[in-house]
Amino acid sequence: MQNTAQKLSINSLYQDIDANTKSGTLKKPTRTTTQSRFTFIDLFAGIGGFHIALKNIGGECTFACEIDKSARETYKINHTISEDRFAEDITKVDSCHVPDHDLLCAGFPCQPFSQAGFKKGFDDIRGTLFFDIARLIAAKKPKVIFLENVQHLLKHDDGQTFKTIRQVITEHLGYSFYHKVVRASDFGVPQNRPRLFMVGFKEDKKGHFTFPPPVALHMTMSDILGGQCSKTIGYTLRVGGRGSKIDDRRNWDSYLVDGTVRRLSPSEGLIMQGFPAHFKLPSSQTQAMKQLGNSVAVPAIQAVAEQILRYLYDHESE
Ligand SMILES: C[S@@+](CC[C@H](N)C(=O)[O-])C[C@H]1O[C@@H](n2cnc3c(N)ncnc32)[C@H](O)[C@@H]1O
Repeated sequence: MQNTAQKLSINSLYQDIDANTKSGTLKKPTRTTTQSRFTFIDLFAGIGGFHIALKNIGGECTFACEIDKSARETYKINHTISEDRFAEDITKVDSCHVPDHDLLCAGFPCQPFSQAGFKKGFDDIRGTLFFDIARLIAAKKPKVIFLENVQHLLKHDDGQTFKTIRQVITEHLGYSFYHKVVRASDFGVPQNRPRLFMVGFKEDKKGHFTFPPPVALHMTMSDILGGQCSKTIGYTLRVGGRGSKIDDRRNWDSYLVDGTVRRLSPSEGLIMQGFPAHFKLPSSQTQAMKQLGNSVAVPAIQAVAEQILRYLYDHESE
């Protein structure tokens, strides 16, 4: 554990970073007036899979950030967010422009940390996007953090990356930490998609948060593709390798339906990710498939978020 001097130096490190970042058009937050059960921020927002899941259970998004122009367009036509609450590059976000919130969500890109392990403390994560998440957690102290990444993060750099993330969250930021590899297909949609979910609570006297139990499939690939598909649960939607031959080991978007090879369309991909039927994908087919490959599966996020709220509210009423 850190001593007081270490804690102080970490806080001043964050303040330095904040003071040096440029905030662009973002304005200082004002209090939100709408009635919501809780507020959340959506970092590395993509097309807003977290946003849909959390709004479904009474959350209000008060801030988001996403750097990709095309993903931002998709986000803006599907979600209500004002331009001054929708930042681009997280590294340029000054925490004083981020409203207070209950839940911080982030499906962040996986990057290598310092090879020197955790010996250099925060220097290990400086310059990575996880550092910017940690910086905002330190400044805003949300009640809960909910992070998502590929399951490979557990093995990345011989486990050093995951170990560092866990240590930063627990020892430096003072949150509890729970993690589990969760599959989209465990929450009703026919897509494998194993993802590492990490949840932490600022105040966690109980210390026994559990991830939700799996539910039965609501549909199969045959339902989505409108014919007899050779697979019940589909491949994980990905960003690269689209259009490989069906027998290629990299194939993820071709299926055998009624004996004929069929390529997955963006609207079918949306269903596999659990998005609502009215969701719009305005960009090109290539961009749309990339955005879907980057996205979270909405039902899996929603099930975990519901469990978080149950745990939090039970906890608070004690
Ligand atoms: C794994 S995806 C997250 C997708 C999102 N959770 C969803 O449901 O669609 C990571 C996202 O981080 C964005 N990103 C990468 N670097 C960023 C940065 N410096 N600032 C903000 N967003 C960034 C990428 O453009 C990408 O959309």
